[in-house]
Amino acid sequence: MTRCMLARPLLASLLLLALAGVASAYEKGPGGFVVTGRVYCDPCRAGFETNVSKNIGGATVAVDCRPFNGGDSKLKAEATTDQYGWYKIDIDQDHQEEICEVLLARSPDPACSEIEEFRDRARVPLTRNNGLKQQGTRYANPIAFFRKEPLKDCGGILQAYDLKDAPETP
Ligand SMILES: *[C@@H]1O[C@H](CO)[C@@H](O)[C@H](O)[C@H]1NC(C)=O
Repeated sequence: MTRCMLARPLLASLLLLALAGVASAYEKGPGGFVVTGRVYCDPCRAGFETNVSKNIGGATVAVDCRPFNGGDSKLKAEATTDQYGWYKIDIDQDHQEEICEVLLARSPDPACSEIEEFRDRARVPLTRNNGLKQQGTRYANPIAFFRKEPLKDCGGILQAYDLKDAPETP
């Protein structure tokens, strides 16, 4: 009898605590995003995928979110790609008014580990408050490490993709 009378207020306050926890989670904004994407090797330094591109397993990427108006980054999270070159990063908060990007961090392959400025990242929106109805999974564009020495057949390959440098005109 007494145990029961003691237990009830305890249960009630536990319930209140739990509700308060849920409420504060919503104040920050519902996060619950999964950022996913792929890392590949660009053996021809083409800046796009070719038929000799290969996904890289064991590569490390980082997610970075910076406020629109400058200032320090609000989030730094890292993940490593699986054997197929895919990574997954759980993000537990909304990042409204921030620019979030996935960046290359480390390649497991020394021959294909060059990080090209501006091509080493993919933007990914991490907010539900931008008017877009999107699921919690956010797909970032594939990003690539560049091979230091392009493969021998890259000339022909790029020509086939019709993007070889135009011959110089006199
Ligand atoms: C890639 O494409 C080029 C040009 O079409 C071709 O010569 C080459 O054999 C292809 N390489 C592979 C690995 O498929």
